[in-house]
Amino acid sequence: MDTRPIGVFDSGVGGLSVLREVTRLLPGEDIVYFGDVGRVPYGNRSREVIYRYSSEDLRFLRDKGVKFIVAACGTASSVIDAALIRQLPVPYTGVIEPTARAAAAATKNKKVGIIGTAATIKSGSFVRALAAIDPAIETRGQGCPLLVPLVENGYIDFENKVTRLVLEEYLRRFDGFEMDTLILGCTHYPLLKPIIQDLLGPGIALIDSGAATAAYVRELLAKQGLLSGRESGGTARYYISEHTETFAETAKIFLGHGIEAEYAVAELPLEETPV
Ligand code: DGL
Repeated sequence: MDTRPIGVFDSGVGGLSVLREVTRLLPGEDIVYFGDVGRVPYGNRSREVIYRYSSEDLRFLRDKGVKFIVAACGTASSVIDAALIRQLPVPYTGVIEPTARAAAAATKNKKVGIIGTAATIKSGSFVRALAAIDPAIETRGQGCPLLVPLVENGYIDFENKVTRLVLEEYLRRFDGFEMDTLILGCTHYPLLKPIIQDLLGPGIALIDSGAATAAYVRELLAKQGLLSGRESGGTARYYISEHTETFAETAKIFLGHGIEAEYAVAELPLEETPV
């Protein structure tokens, strides 16, 4: 039994889609969430910068005395490597392995599409994770840089013409690929699931990182004797690296309710990269 909180971080608000699933599955666990809203988006930055930001995010959570860390961000998870993980005093997971596991279990024809930020697709993280599970799985990926701003600006209603047009453009990449499974490799995309399903048709399984990662976290906590032992009453504390006008509003889109967040910039080095 361990009543310390679980640490969850994201480049901004997207990780709240993972937090929501963790809370649903583990309602007795306390959570500390960090959203690096001052430096979002990570998805179109270089690997080096994403690596540095991610290592600072990990350190921030580590210093909060958490028992387990979740990188609830497709982009950060794609660059965090064994060297960074080794430095952590507590167990860690990103979203790549759990999501790849769920996709490998879902595909019947072994053709899996992947959408994510430009950095996630460029990193090849999902391709490697799928190949490690089943080398026979064929993949095709598409970076979708316009989707994060669309979600953050609330362009998520089912009939939204702009979002549909942008998605149609991106999904054209999968014409002729005949996949039966698509990984939604960015924590913002679960909010677009109904539109994506409508565009692709019901025959394609959409795998998002939230549910898969939450199940993985529960499995690891149980295995390592780290569950709190409580069935309900878990709390969540939120930290953000900049007070933006939109944080609370956008958080509501992800969680369905508003939240109060503490300003964490003093604890996180936010120096800009020299150009
Ligand atoms: N949270 C990021 C992800 O899941 C998307 C936002 C960003 O580009 O930072 O990849």
